[in-house]
Amino acid sequence: MIPRILLGTASIPGTDKELQLYQSGELFSIKIPGRGDLMNSRMHGSEKALADLACEKLGDRHNPRLLIGGLGMGFTLAAALQATGPGAEIVVAELVPEVVTWNRTLIGGPAGHPLEDPRSTVYVGDVADVLRREIAGFDAILMDVDNGPEALVRRDNDWLYSVAGLRATRAALRRHGVLAVWSASQDARFSKRLRDAGFGVHEHVVRPHRAGKGPRHHVWIGT
Ligand SMILES: C[S@@+](CC[C@H](N)C(=O)[O-])C[C@H]1O[C@@H](n2cnc3c(N)ncnc32)[C@H](O)[C@@H]1O
Repeated sequence: MIPRILLGTASIPGTDKELQLYQSGELFSIKIPGRGDLMNSRMHGSEKALADLACEKLGDRHNPRLLIGGLGMGFTLAAALQATGPGAEIVVAELVPEVVTWNRTLIGGPAGHPLEDPRSTVYVGDVADVLRREIAGFDAILMDVDNGPEALVRRDNDWLYSVAGLRATRAALRRHGVLAVWSASQDARFSKRLRDAGFGVHEHVVRPHRAGKGPRHHVWIGT
């Protein structure tokens, strides 16, 4: 049996909880104790799909500026870099400073070290701060900070999925901007809140593995 090694722990700002980083052979996982994996390096097809669907909707917009909520293991960032041109700028907001350090030192390999791409910049802090201060700042906003539109990492994240939070997100988008939200499952009430906040809503079922295998994850595209 391959042993599981604890590589690091990090407290989650604004909570009394922590994240734990484990390695088991070639597999890395970031866990919340008692809540299972927040992210692992094996299942990332749907995190890539989050970026692919948003960038597809953006079309060939010139030099787009994107915001990604939640670095995790960098798979969404890597896919967004791949789907956009040399003039793109991608800001990643990550709440837990150690997650950024882990990506730069221990776990950047599986996603291909996307933080080293000069088009990536990192804001270490709450993605809500960026949404509130950047009015008409982004062509696309990609959100994957919890396991869906309900706070998991910290209670304050619930604001992001409220009508007020979604209106602020809409205000942070440029004209014809695109919002993409990842979830482990469907949530009809969230679809309604998106519409109440003024978004046109398209929903996609996405799979974590190539060849359409694994659980049915969900991506909302709001326009
Ligand atoms: C599920 S992981 C993201 C996975 C990522 N899409 C990937 O491709 O690896 C969620 C990340 O969001 C971060 N996070 C949680 N709440 C946040 C917030 N309010 N602002 C910024 N980052 C947050 C977590 O620390 C974690 O790194």
